[in-house]
Amino acid sequence: MTVRPIRYLGDPVLRKPARKISRVDDSIRRLIEDMTESMYAAHGVGIAAPQVGVPLRLVVIGMPDEEPFALINPEVIRRSGERRVDEGCLSVPGYRGTVTRSVQVTVKALDANGKEVRVKAEDNLLAQALEHETDHVNGTLYVDHLDARTDLVKLEPAQPAPEGDD
Ligand code: NI
Repeated sequence: MTVRPIRYLGDPVLRKPARKISRVDDSIRRLIEDMTESMYAAHGVGIAAPQVGVPLRLVVIGMPDEEPFALINPEVIRRSGERRVDEGCLSVPGYRGTVTRSVQVTVKALDANGKEVRVKAEDNLLAQALEHETDHVNGTLYVDHLDARTDLVKLEPAQPAPEGDD
């Protein structure tokens, strides 16, 4: 497993809609392992393949104290409600912002074995991560969802993030 460098805001790979994965093979599973390592090395709770420079529709989510899992070709198939949440991103270090996210989120995807799965979450960090990471494979960053510039806050260098970044 290899920790891959994170790409930052301004890198075009973060802005291009990523390519669909047509076959879930060992090379994809190796990429999942590298992304998982890279996510934990950066203290994140989620990571998308474009964030390590790979333009594929693949994300890894690792909620605190839970097993990490991969979602291949993730699609939000249902969302409802609105809530305001504090958010950060490994690709936008040193900042956090307040954005509007859904309360209930359902994502359809393939797992690391190529089997179709649905992941549902409601009013929690997982719901937020599902939308945040699926956005990434569509070339969208959380800063695009800010209502106002004042909703983005620069962190003091010594101040740790209140929770993991996506
Ligand atoms: Ni992110």
